[in-house]
Amino acid sequence: MSLQPVGIIGTGKYVPERIITNQHLEQMVETNDEWIVTRTGIKERRMAAASEATSDLALEASKRAIEAAGLTAEDIDLIIVATITPDMFFPSTACLLQSKLGASKAAAFDLSAACSGFIYGLATASSMITSGMYKHVLVVGAETLSRITDYTDRNTCILFGDGAGAVVLGHVAEGRGFKSFELGADGSGGELLKVSGGGSRIPASEESVSTKQHFIHMAGNDVFKFAVRIMGSAAEDALAKAGMTKEDIDLLIPHQANIRIIQSAMNRLNLPEEKAMINLHNYGNMSAASIPVALAEAVEQNRIKEGDRIVFVGFGGGLTWGSSVLVW
Ligand code: UT7
Repeated sequence: MSLQPVGIIGTGKYVPERIITNQHLEQMVETNDEWIVTRTGIKERRMAAASEATSDLALEASKRAIEAAGLTAEDIDLIIVATITPDMFFPSTACLLQSKLGASKAAAFDLSAACSGFIYGLATASSMITSGMYKHVLVVGAETLSRITDYTDRNTCILFGDGAGAVVLGHVAEGRGFKSFELGADGSGGELLKVSGGGSRIPASEESVSTKQHFIHMAGNDVFKFAVRIMGSAAEDALAKAGMTKEDIDLLIPHQANIRIIQSAMNRLNLPEEKAMINLHNYGNMSAASIPVALAEAVEQNRIKEGDRIVFVGFGGGLTWGSSVLVW
């Protein structure tokens, strides 16, 4: 058991260049900018170029995180990619990324926990460093959700975007680092948010394509209610485990799904909105990439200083949720 605490020693992000505005979506489905902004807070999102896949977005974010950590790819012992939009079934996107990075000493695997994937990845990486198994772990949240989004379905197509965020975990000084993790799942809610086609239950076929089973299907209202319930309680559970209270929070970095979900979590925690990192107006919901991109931007914008107490909280398909307290 290693005595030294584990924390985040480098962050990076990458989003594709192409911007899809609400006005653009108005031309594709029966919707309007006002509805999207008032119901979700989203103004625009990014879309990967035809030549870009998830590992390409992950590569750019990872290079930046490794550089920010003052390391080279050869220093990375393990790569975890949280994604629901891998380049392909296998090899894993983490293996594709390992090769692109030249991280020849790293083990690599993907992790599937939808929008909670990045927090699941942090918990896994942190435990493996604490156990003494590894020293430096690259955790990436990367998605090309545009590839599984039905741009004729106004209930979903307004929400999602593409992007990648990465962090390097390693040992940090006493008093800093991760103080707690809370992970949860409720598989009985799996039907609420899913892509059912292309797996072993419904292999790809002409019928699976024509019935749109390779796209995201979501019971928006039910997911919304679950999210509102779980965001506040998951954050409170991680704080309690860390021996802290909500008054201790300097910055909350939530999954960026919907401004109304974030606002209701802030209300429950009795915290002003300024204490939340919010960037969903620019990117929409990037699933596993949302939290690491928001973290990288908070760092870029100097919103985090040494000793700050950060709370990560996310929820998503599975259903899954996760939260964590980190002293920066
Ligand atoms: O990472 C986790 C992934 N998912 C989520 O976090 C999603 C959580 N859910 C939500 O964010 C919200 O439920 C939505 C944004 C998806 C929908 O907002 P809502 O306030 O729950 O709207 P609703 O589904 O209750 O729909 C209200 C009305 C409906 O019309 P009627 O039946 O009242 O006539 C919808 O057909 O709004 C209509 N509507 C739209 N109108 C214009 C649904 N989508 C659109 C749209 N533009 N894009």
